[in-house]
Amino acid sequence: MSRRRVAILISGGGSNMLALLRAMADPAHPAAPCLVLSNRPGARGLSLAAEMAVPTACVDHTAFRGDRTAFEAAIAEPLRRAGAEILCLAGFMRVLTPGFTAEWRGRMLNIHPSILPLFPGLHTHARALEAGMAVHGCTVHEVTGELDSGPILGQAVLAIRPGDTPETLAARLLPLEHRLYPAVLHRFATGDRERIALFE
Ligand code: GAR
Repeated sequence: MSRRRVAILISGGGSNMLALLRAMADPAHPAAPCLVLSNRPGARGLSLAAEMAVPTACVDHTAFRGDRTAFEAAIAEPLRRAGAEILCLAGFMRVLTPGFTAEWRGRMLNIHPSILPLFPGLHTHARALEAGMAVHGCTVHEVTGELDSGPILGQAVLAIRPGDTPETLAARLLPLEHRLYPAVLHRFATGDRERIALFE
């Protein structure tokens, strides 16, 4: 069976992107990367992807001055040319319009740094601490028109320790993100949507 073509959308460091690319470097993986696309020209992930010989593209959202539909039309073009079948948002910090999410419904994944449906949006680590949570985690979900919602495909959970700060939590969560996202993508690419649960 041919491998599903995956495009990864990033805005920054790209550590989740790297975890996905490393997993897909296995020729037996059911998916293969066809493009890494960033909305920020300086994103470190772009050079990391290029080093791994993965095609890259950049569509700077600031050129569109808040016109989300025009920005999305501009990213649709390289996605189409790359033949993308699955989109993985990996630290992609732009909100997508319902038109775009509807077009990719069932074919677009996101990783979010909280145990959804708790703490959608930003500053998730600080908000988990402020809420007095005993656990924190991350979620990979299908993207729908509503921000950080959509069917959950996997979650990873860690214990919050006394003295944890948003920074220490983020640092302990990232390695879990890097385990969870590739595990979910591998399963998803075979058409299996059964949820994955991981623990620190
Ligand atoms: C990750 O923690 C990811 O969960 C989060 O941004 C970080 C990106 O790191 N995503 C969001 O907050 C999405 N709203 P990375 O660029 O090193 O993968």
